[in-house]
Formats: sequence, C-alpha cells, structure tokens
Amino acid sequence: MRWFFLGWTLCSVPLSGYAQSSEPNLTLQVRALLRSRCLECHSGLGRSSLAILDHGQLLRSDRPLPIVQPRKPEASLLLDLVAEGSMPPGIKPKLTADEVALLRNWIRRGAASFPKEFGERFVFETILQDMKSVTFADRKWMRYVSFAHLIGDTPQDLGRLTEEVAALREVLKTVSKATGDPLKPIETTGTLFRLNLKELGWDAQRFQRVPPRSPKEFEKWNLFDLVLLDYPQAMTYPASQLYDQVMSEVLVPMDQVRPVAYLHGDWLRLYLSHQTVREEMVRLIKYTPTIKRSPTDEPAPLFRPTKFESPLPVELPVGYHFDQGKLIPPIDSPAVHTFPLKKPPFDVEFEIVDAATRQPRRQFTQRQRFAFTLKSNRDVYVELYWQEIGGGRLQSLGDPLVKAYQPRLLDKVRDERGVESDLMFSDDIGTERLIFFASDEKFPPGELIRFDHPTDPIERLIHPLPLERSSDGKYHLSWDPNRMVKRTIEYTIVERLKK
Ligand code: HEC
Repeated sequence: MRWFFLGWTLCSVPLSGYAQSSEPNLTLQVRALLRSRCLECHSGLGRSSLAILDHGQLLRSDRPLPIVQPRKPEASLLLDLVAEGSMPPGIKPKLTADEVALLRNWIRRGAASFPKEFGERFVFETILQDMKSVTFADRKWMRYVSFAHLIGDTPQDLGRLTEEVAALREVLKTVSKATGDPLKPIETTGTLFRLNLKELGWDAQRFQRVPPRSPKEFEKWNLFDLVLLDYPQAMTYPASQLYDQVMSEVLVPMDQVRPVAYLHGDWLRLYLSHQTVREEMVRLIKYTPTIKRSPTDEPAPLFRPTKFESPLPVELPVGYHFDQGKLIPPIDSPAVHTFPLKKPPFDVEFEIVDAATRQPRRQFTQRQRFAFTLKSNRDVYVELYWQEIGGGRLQSLGDPLVKAYQPRLLDKVRDERGVESDLMFSDDIGTERLIFFASDEKFPPGELIRFDHPTDPIERLIHPLPLERSSDGKYHLSWDPNRMVKRTIEYTIVERLKK
C-alpha cells in the first residue's frame, strides 16, 4: 500500500536530537541473536524439532533438562550448548563471549518472553491482555502505541526502535501535562506501550458543536480523537475473530471518533513534532472555553485558513497485516485535501463555475454570481463544507443529490421561508475553500466542532465512525469511509472594480 498526499511539508524534530543513552531491550537482543544464529536450523521444521523463537517451547518444564530454566543459567541446556561450543554445530561460527553473556544475563533475569512474530496478532493479543487489568470504567482513558512494526531482520532495527521510543517520550512530555513517564510498557520487549489520557491531560473535552446543541455541554471528543482524525494507518479487519474481540473489549469502551486500537509510535512521534500540532495540543490543554448558553449566544464565527499539514505517513512493511485488512482513511484530516487520489470507488466531478458562462473558475469578484456543477457515474450523496471568510459552514445536500449520468447545476439557495435566490458571493475578499464529500452509500452528516479560543480557535469537520452492533452480537463499522470521495477547491475573491 502506498500513500500519496498533496501538500506535505515535513518539519519534524530530528531523531538524532534526542539522548540515545538507553540500551536496546535485553529480551529483544536475545531474540535477535537466536533469530540470526539459530533459526536456520531451529524453525521447528528441520532435523531438530526445537523452534527457537517459540518462547513457550524453550521454557517447557516436562523434560529432564529444561532448555531454558528461568533464573538458572547453570540448569539451562541452551546455555550449556552455546557455552561449550556445540551449538551452533560443526564449522558454524560459535557465539562470542559477549553473546553468551547476553543469553546468560537474560536467563538470570527471568528469561522474559518474546513473540515468535511481531505482527498485528501479537499487538492485538497483548492489548487485549493488558485491558483485562484495567477496570471497564477506566478503559475509556487507556490508549496504545506500538513500535512492533519496526522490528525487522537487522540489528540496526533495535537501535532505531530504542531511539524512536525515547523520542516519543520526549515529545509527549512537551505536549501533555504528564509529570511521570507518559509511556507505560505493557510487555517485556519494550515495543508496546499504554498511554493514560487523564495523566496526559488529553482527556480534555474542549469542543462545542457549531451551532451548539442542547444539553449545553462540550462534545465528547478529546485531544486523542483529534490525533485520530489525522492518523493515516488505521486498519480494520472485518473477517478476523481476534479483531471482533478487540472491538468489543477495547474499542467499545474507548468510545473514540474512529475505532483505532493503537497508533504506530513512529508516526505519533513525527506527528507531535509538527509545530502546528504541538501548538494546538498545548492550547487545548491550557485553555478551557466557557460553555455557551444557547445557540443564539454564538459569537461571530471566525475562520482562519488552516496552515496545518500533517506529516508524511510511514509506509508499512510488506506483509505486516494479517487477514484481510481494510483501511480507515483519514477523510477528516485538514491536511488531506483529496481522497482517494487513485482509484476512487466511482467517478465524480464537482466544480465551482461562473453562473453566466458555466465555466470553472478559481477567481471571482465580490458579489459575483456563481454555481456548482456536479456529475457522477453513480447515484451519490453529497455534502459541502464551506470554509468562507466569515466562518465555516456545513451543508448536507440531501438524498442522492446526483443521479448517475445526470449532471446537475446548482445556482440557487433557499432560505428558511423557502424563498429562492441566486448563489452570490458577499463583499468579503480573500481565499476560501470548498470541501466536497460524496459517497454512493448514505453517510451520517458531518459535525462541525469548534474550540473557542479568544485568538486562535480550532475548527474541525468530523464524520464520526462509531461501531455498531448487529443482531449476532458482533460489532462492525457503522458506515464505510472507503466509499467516500473528498475533493477540495480553493478559490479567491478579488475586489470588484468600480465602474
Ligand atoms: C546448522 C544447524 C544448527 C544451528 C545453526 C543451530 N543448531 Fe541447535 N541443533 C541442531 C540440530 C540438528 C540439533 C538436534 C541434535 C540432536 O537432537 O541430535 C540441535 C539441537 C539443539 C538443542 C537441543 C534441543 C533438544 O531438544 O534437546 C538446543 C538447545 C540447541 N540446538 C540450541 C541451539 C542454539 C541456541 C543455536 C544458536 C545459537 C543453535 N542451536 C544453532 C542444529 C543447529
């Protein structure tokens, strides 16, 4: 899977800027050693039935001399054989004294477990296990970060992993109010971590609906939800039993804007290193807006063209995902202007045109009449999010607005009393954005939410993607974001010359 987005700018804190004092995890070093020096004969399928990466098998106690006896190197056959030089056998190069010491040290410290493979199965199983230690009420605040996908075939991978973990720790401290270590390891290889939103101050709910709805309170979306909107690597597994379990035991209690069980730590580090993101997170943690009493108290909306560009998504290693995964595209990320760039699920064209000539334009004058043209090869539902100079506005355009092969021209608006008038620009001058969503399946209307900061409000359009329970008790996505097409048109309104 490759990703191409428009308008990326990379501006991340360089990895080398962080202290790299910490040693790679001991258990991982042992696994890497066994893998590179023993696996060729000990996959469990060759002459020896010993599968060297099967931790359970190494520790089996139903044999006279255990292969590995935790805390007792002297009673472990494995250490015996490598120390005396019989393994690896024959002319194979023997382990160095340091390598033997590494194994001895690992056994002495309890021979902590490692997975055979660092695939998504390991990640999900470990998260499920960890969630069992958390009360149901607290699960709402727990989030997971994984670096497991960084573990590959080379020893350098371990160094990279150690750096990445350290770097994420540092960045997290700058965008949270955590006083202790924000990353809690949840297994022995140091690749999976838990975040507690309450400790980070990321549980803060700062957004109100535009216009606010009753009861007068903040929307439930928190700072982590905001991160999820931009996360480009979210996958879902409709055919996996393990994922079914993740949904009911992890994702339902988390109750997020997108059902994402964990984030890739390297992406999160890159993302939080982005200056705009950091500034936004800090503002959201520090400032609590007051609740508005009624929709009519709404101050004049303020729109600032977003300067936000999300960092490049990291490409996943081939074969990383098990089963038939499906992407949850970051359709509501303000940095993703067009989606998908390749192979949309249907053809759709959307244009803003001069009302008189019906030609597409990117520049208009004040008070000029305009229109939209739409056409598609399917019946499609359409929604417009209009970032006007005066403020964001959302318009859902009703049941299949565009019928297959029947181009439409929209040049009128209807007010509350049903009076129609021409679409026309106001006197405002500047650049505006028109964001267009279409799907051949019905989708719930977007929600416009805003953080009312006195000088730098934050606005987002979101299409929440909750899990839905079917009659067989299983959960599934309530609608398919992969059927959505997003297009953004930017145009400018210039001054009208006086006659
Ligand atoms: C070139 C192939 C080869 C390599 C490389 C190799 N082994 Fe072996 N190993 C064998 C074979 C074959 C046996 C089975 C010998 C037998 O059962 O007679 C064996 C047996 C063992 C046993 C005993 C298994 C048991 O069930 O009693 C252990 C432990 C072991 N190897 C550890 C290692 C370790 C650790 C490494 C890497 C540092 C390693 N081996 C590398 C071929 C290899």
